[in-house]
Amino acid sequence: MTTPAEIQFKEVDLDAVATATGKVAVFIGPDGKLDAGARKVNTLTRKVLSRFVQSDAFEKMAMGDLTALAWPAGLAAQAVLVVKLGRRPSVQDARKAGAQLAKAQNGSDLLICAGSIAHADEIALGLALRAYTFDAHKTGEKKPAGDVTFMAANPEALAKRAAPMAAIAEGVFFTRDLTNEPANILTTHDFAARLAAMQELGLDVEILEEEELTKLGMRTLLAVGQGSISPSKVVVMSWNGGGDEAPFALVGKGVVFDTGGISIKPAGGMEDMTMDMGGAGVVAGVMRTVALRKARANVVGVVGIVENMPSGSATRPGDVIRSMKGDTIEVINTDAEGRMVLADVLWYTQERFKPKAMINLATLTGAMLVALGHENAGVFSNSDDLSGAFIKAAGTEGEGAWRMPMGPAYDELLKSRIADMKNVGGRFAGAITAAQFLQRFVKDDVPWCHLDIAGVASMKKETALAPAGATGWGVMALNRLIADKYET
Ligand code: BES
Ligand code: MN
Ligand code: ZN
Repeated sequence: MTTPAEIQFKEVDLDAVATATGKVAVFIGPDGKLDAGARKVNTLTRKVLSRFVQSDAFEKMAMGDLTALAWPAGLAAQAVLVVKLGRRPSVQDARKAGAQLAKAQNGSDLLICAGSIAHADEIALGLALRAYTFDAHKTGEKKPAGDVTFMAANPEALAKRAAPMAAIAEGVFFTRDLTNEPANILTTHDFAARLAAMQELGLDVEILEEEELTKLGMRTLLAVGQGSISPSKVVVMSWNGGGDEAPFALVGKGVVFDTGGISIKPAGGMEDMTMDMGGAGVVAGVMRTVALRKARANVVGVVGIVENMPSGSATRPGDVIRSMKGDTIEVINTDAEGRMVLADVLWYTQERFKPKAMINLATLTGAMLVALGHENAGVFSNSDDLSGAFIKAAGTEGEGAWRMPMGPAYDELLKSRIADMKNVGGRFAGAITAAQFLQRFVKDDVPWCHLDIAGVASMKKETALAPAGATGWGVMALNRLIADKYET
């Protein structure tokens, strides 16, 4: 997997500023005051920074913005990177500053004069997250990443605070790698194997194969995968750091490729459906982070891994399938497959683990993109408490999440003439009827959220903390929710 850059934390050594050969970064607050590191750069460069802070260019910079001053006289460095950031930045500004540093670093070594700036650990996280690249399938020489060194007033304490950040970055990278990976590589088998490899981190990982799933009666999940030559699987990952407390459960949609099945999708853009396992990818990333930082909580992650293909053995529109719960479903559209997978996995998770709360993630509907675009995931819930706590955690982490309505009136749209329900609700409110469908497989007394991440899991353009492609949205929010609400 792609591993986050290792960041060094060192004692302040002002002499190193003159001799560093890569790029040297300094932080200057909006007041234009220079700290010791910046003063050193200023002296060596015969007052380049004094002139810069008095310029319009500096005035116009927003918090966290970066300007590169190339080939400065008096330094061995290629460039001085000036980042506008106060002594006590907000977490978001600190991460943005780190991301700007990652972009400007561009393969050089980087010496960061952090001094005693607050949230240097968050700067490091922003840097690590934005430095991600998915180049597994690029041949030719790979550009080395370049070393990153923070010179800080108390490097040991800073390194200690930055350690959980490394666990977060690694979880996010795991999610992004899985979500970016094409479906000929990330087959159902390969996906399960990558999850099984996390046993090294102390997670329990169990793979349920088709034979077992048949015995369990997971017919709606199996109905989605039966057109593919790749066998369907359910993978259970457990982290037991919280004694004998009931676990917090995460459930993910892991459709490694969604052709639509017999209700086949149009060719244009179909390649994007390699990311249709993004929900399972987030569950995997959270489990990785939780294990790496040895969370004092019980967390179980359950993912349904299938491929939705058209073939002679594929499920047809009109077929009626009986779910593990027992309710029957008339398949109107085989492209509404995510809810079929989740129906059985949600039910199984509740029956087996009796979780104290359950959150599922899925790239479930195109309608979610129509409603909220790429800025927010949709939050559907039966609990004001759980959804409120999640939305708060997402806000703290800068991951957009917006509560959507649910209600029995929407449920009417799922009525079937011949079965207990249809798998689609018609043209309007598509994201909500999908959520109503899922809720039929959630017990009333289990606090539950469904996160429709169709718009946020992967982007065509870069975002604040990620290059174009998979974002890893949700790993940080869920990790924080676990830390705030479920750790003892
Ligand atoms: N995986 C898709 C949803 C999707 C669309 C995710 C775009 C990411 C980007 C899902 O399985 C799907 O095909 N949903 C259908 C449901 C419809 C048939 C009721 C959709 O949204 O069109
Ligand atoms: Mn589909
Ligand atoms: Zn899908």
